[in-house]
Amino acid sequence: MNIQSIVIIGAGNMAWHLGHALKIAGLEIKQVFSRKLEKAIQLADSLDGQAINDLQSIDQHSDLYIIAVSDQAIAAVSQQLVLRLSPNVMIVHTSGATPSTIFDAHFLRKGIFYPLQSLSKDKKTDFTKVPICVHANLQEDAENLYQLGRRISHQVAYIDDQQRAVLHIAAVFVNNFSNYLFHVGSEITKDANVPFELLLPLIQETVEKIKDQPPQKMQTGPAIRDDQNTIDRHLAFLENYPSFAEVYQLISRLIPNMNSK
Ligand SMILES: NC(=O)c1ccc[n+]([C@@H]2O[C@H](COP(=O)([O-])OP(=O)(O)OC[C@H]3O[C@@H](n4cnc5c(N)ncnc54)[C@H](OP(=O)(O)O)[C@@H]3O)[C@@H](O)[C@H]2O)c1
Repeated sequence: MNIQSIVIIGAGNMAWHLGHALKIAGLEIKQVFSRKLEKAIQLADSLDGQAINDLQSIDQHSDLYIIAVSDQAIAAVSQQLVLRLSPNVMIVHTSGATPSTIFDAHFLRKGIFYPLQSLSKDKKTDFTKVPICVHANLQEDAENLYQLGRRISHQVAYIDDQQRAVLHIAAVFVNNFSNYLFHVGSEITKDANVPFELLLPLIQETVEKIKDQPPQKMQTGPAIRDDQNTIDRHLAFLENYPSFAEVYQLISRLIPNMNSK
């Protein structure tokens, strides 16, 4: 079966970006559900679909149902859906952190369609560059999800629940934590009236280098060199920033031991 028609449950950041990517690729977005009708209308109108705020009126005959709601709401939403849909429909969620077993009690054909990117409604994203991790309990559904992914992205991978859990933890480190470190850099430069923009090429280069070299090999700076005088000067400066000093000390202590995990 070729996936052609889709219902999206959710109208947040993921639903917005994924919905548009699927629409551009020629998929029919039959309906968008949000608890708030105006939110559903805003997205559904831009996708030429129908807005609904009551799951009683969900379309019964779509090829795929994508649950793009907050992680903690996925179980409750699928419990409501099972009352209204045949257990034979294909259903997926978009969460990196939630196992596919969340659907076990409810649906026979279940899977994951996880775009591995940080998506915000207000920020334009080229979806063709967003890796998509797919998984399904049935081989044929997994292949169909893979094909669907390929219609909107250049990078699609079969990733099972365990692998996705690891990817999600890694994503927290490389995205959430590194962004916190950018925040630290931004704050201390702002307070000292130094342009943060001067650091952008360095940030860019850090990412460029690890495209073809292990991060471990690319580590530079006072901690790996064991340059204690510099570290002490930095910590003296950071006395007014106790949280930032804590992060500095922790990471500086760990860097020299990168080989031992
Ligand atoms: N954004 C990202 O960067 C990203 C990346 C990868 C994966 N994901 C995954 O995508 C999913 C959606 O994330 P998001 O970023 O789109 O979140 P979001 O922007 O906060 O939107 C959350 C959506 O969930 C709905 N919702 C929350 N509680 C609900 C409930 N009890 N019943 C029904 N609907 C409920 C909200 O409903 P209303 O519209 O009714 O308010 C809203 O439409 C999550 O599983 C997340 O882990 C997100």
